[in-house]
Amino acid sequence: MNRSLAVLILAAGQGTRMKSARPKVLHAIAQRPMVAHALAAAQALKPERVIAVVGPGMADVAAAAAPAETVVQALQRGTGDAVAAARGALDGFAGEVLVLYGDTPLVLPETLERLLAERQRMSAAVAVIGMRPAEPGAYGRLVLGADGSLEAIVEAKDATPAQREIRLCNSGVMAIDGSRLWTLIDALGNGNGNAHREYYLTDIVGIARARGMRCAAIEAPAEEMMGVNSRAELAEAEALMQRRLRAAAMAAGVTFTAPETVFLCADTRLGRDCVIGPFVVFGPEVTVGDGVEIPAFCHIAGAEIGDHAIVGPFARLRPGAELAAHVHIGNFVEVKNSTLASGVKANHLAYLGDASIGAGTNIGAGTITCNYDGIDKHRTEIGKDVFVGTNASLVAPVAIGDGAMIAAGSVITEDVPADALALGRGRQVVKEGRATAWRSSKRAAKKPAQKKR
Ligand code: UD1
Ligand code: MG
Repeated sequence: MNRSLAVLILAAGQGTRMKSARPKVLHAIAQRPMVAHALAAAQALKPERVIAVVGPGMADVAAAAAPAETVVQALQRGTGDAVAAARGALDGFAGEVLVLYGDTPLVLPETLERLLAERQRMSAAVAVIGMRPAEPGAYGRLVLGADGSLEAIVEAKDATPAQREIRLCNSGVMAIDGSRLWTLIDALGNGNGNAHREYYLTDIVGIARARGMRCAAIEAPAEEMMGVNSRAELAEAEALMQRRLRAAAMAAGVTFTAPETVFLCADTRLGRDCVIGPFVVFGPEVTVGDGVEIPAFCHIAGAEIGDHAIVGPFARLRPGAELAAHVHIGNFVEVKNSTLASGVKANHLAYLGDASIGAGTNIGAGTITCNYDGIDKHRTEIGKDVFVGTNASLVAPVAIGDGAMIAAGSVITEDVPADALALGRGRQVVKEGRATAWRSSKRAAKKPAQKKR
């Protein structure tokens, strides 16, 4: 699209209603900070500039908003003041300015496009996105004129009882004609007249109208436009985002047996014909190939899973787990920072950490790679077509050659050459008849049991 657009993401507020040591916009939805969701929506519009307004000492917020440029709002004196803080950064910019709030993580790019189009169509100084939440509560109310155009935004605390009855609420998302932005911002009161004693960005609508400029509003679903100000709203936004992510995955060809029990990360990538059972949780940076089965109760983060692999039930994949096609990981198996080549099977009760395992290798139940000596981590290198017997401890650093066999119960501390059999366990001793003798002596020593009455 041929346009000149700058997006401002307001993210300087502490978010006192969250009762948190962390700035509000760093609280996560689908394991991604809220401000990063706003950023993703902004970037989808391909704007010339994206600027995040942060508070002093909020380097973590700036990092979460990267690669957006950041400006610092010295004192949190309200949303109007936050926009004013970007004045220097926008010096000489004459295009369109879109304001997003860092606490509004569900907004979709197509809705933002609709807002920009409406502002242009109406030649409006300001256009906002309205919504009709079930409980308008603390949201600002949009006051419309007889012709349906926007007259004013009134904050709930400053609204008359009649205005509070208005169902149409302010989402906070606003498109402003850049050539008129600063005259409107300059006209904002210092907040002494309002309940929060803040510079309200929302007041620019009334100011624009008083100066004969047009303002407009569009409507979008409340579930998309909700603002997060409390932990309860955070949980609500999480539920909405999860529903959205699951729906997108299903639309792309993924089966969820019980979708409402599966938790996805904003960046989870699931291939076609994956079948995901109940209670599977995805952490960040997971890529799953086509036709993968993940039965119930798995936790998967930072992992890559190849086509047609089976992971679970009750499996845990941690960061750096790279599973090639047709790998089978079964119950109570944990894999961390390990590469498993095609067809590797580890079906029961194993810990595979800092290992590389060649194609076709079978890892027996209870196998542990002893990767940590208390100070450093070491690697276990296992070749292809190796058979690791049940309950083996592989003490790293150690290498096992192709085609080797490890006897059950072995503690392997030295490298094993290809095609060798390694046994590292006590030799078995059998004493014929000893069990019978032991039992008889025990019984003889015991008094006869007293009869119960
Ligand atoms: C704001 C709107 C309200 C709207 C609601 C939608 C105003 C005055 N009110 O209220 O009409 O219904 O959002 O969710 O705009 N921020 C700064 N600097 C500040 C203050 C806030 O950067 O000095 C940022 C916050 O980090 C936040 C956003 O602006 O991301 C909105 O601030 P918040 O305090 O949440 O405003 P609301 O009370 O929710
Ligand atoms: Mg808010």
